[in-house]
Formats: sequence, C-alpha cells, structure tokens
Amino acid sequence: MKKLAIVTFIAAGALSLMAAPNAAKLTQKCAGCHGAHFQKKALGVSKVVKNMTADEIVKALEGYQKGIGGPMKGIMKGQVAGYNDADFKAIAKYIKAKD
Ligand code: HEC
Repeated sequence: MKKLAIVTFIAAGALSLMAAPNAAKLTQKCAGCHGAHFQKKALGVSKVVKNMTADEIVKALEGYQKGIGGPMKGIMKGQVAGYNDADFKAIAKYIKAKD
C-alpha cells in the first residue's frame, strides 16, 4: 500500500514536470501582451488572465479558436491557431501554477 502511494506520487510528479516545459513553450509568445505571469490586461483590453479560473481560461481559448470572444478576438484567434484542447488545459494549469 505504501509502495503504491509512493509510485503514484512519483508518476504524478513526472506528469506535471512533463507538462510544464511544454506549457512554458506554448506561452512564450503570450508574454508580450499578457505579461510573463499573465498579470497584465493585454493591450489594455483583456481581463487579467491570471485572475481567471483554469476553466475560464480553457473556455476563452476554445472560443477564440471558433471566432468567439470580445472585440479584439481576431488577435487571439491568430495566437491559438494550431493549438489543441490538451494545449489549452496545459496552458491554463501552467498559468494558475505560476501565481
Ligand atoms: C498581440 C497581443 C496578444 C498575444 C501575443 C496574446 N494575447 Fe491573449 N488576448 C489579447 C487581447 C487583445 C485579448 C482580448 C481579446 C478580446 O477582445 O476578446 C486577449 C484575451 C485573452 C484571453 C481571455 C481574456 C478575456 O478578456 O476574456 C486569454 C485566456 C488569453 N488572451 C490567453 C492568451 C494566451 C494563452 C496567449 C499565448 C498563446 C495569448 N493570449 C497571446 C492579446 C494577446
């Protein structure tokens, strides 16, 4: 039982380590507008993404991909082109872990 717990712990740790560098790479280009910690209002208009829940972040990104969003959604549509749902989840998790 104890062994199983340790194995689970290590596996979970390895998974989050694997997700992090990928998300770091995926969010590199976001910093210019959103800030390194997603603490800024992008171009003075977006919400502070860091203050959104992970769920809200994923939904917003999925929306932009479909062309749904605020008045400047066109900018974000270009940003998320080529990203998939797993990327969005990794990004949201990464942003929330950065606090
Ligand atoms: C060129 C500047 C720019 C870049 C680069 C950029 N964004 Fe944005 N982002 C914006 C703007 C402007 C908005 C508000 C768009 C709108 O009107 O809905 C926004 C909105 C968002 C929102 C929703 C916030 C809200 O107001 O509802 C999320 C989440 C987000 N961006 C994440 C990202 C991620 C993740 C990346 C990198 C993959 C990224 N952005 C790159 C400018 C940018």
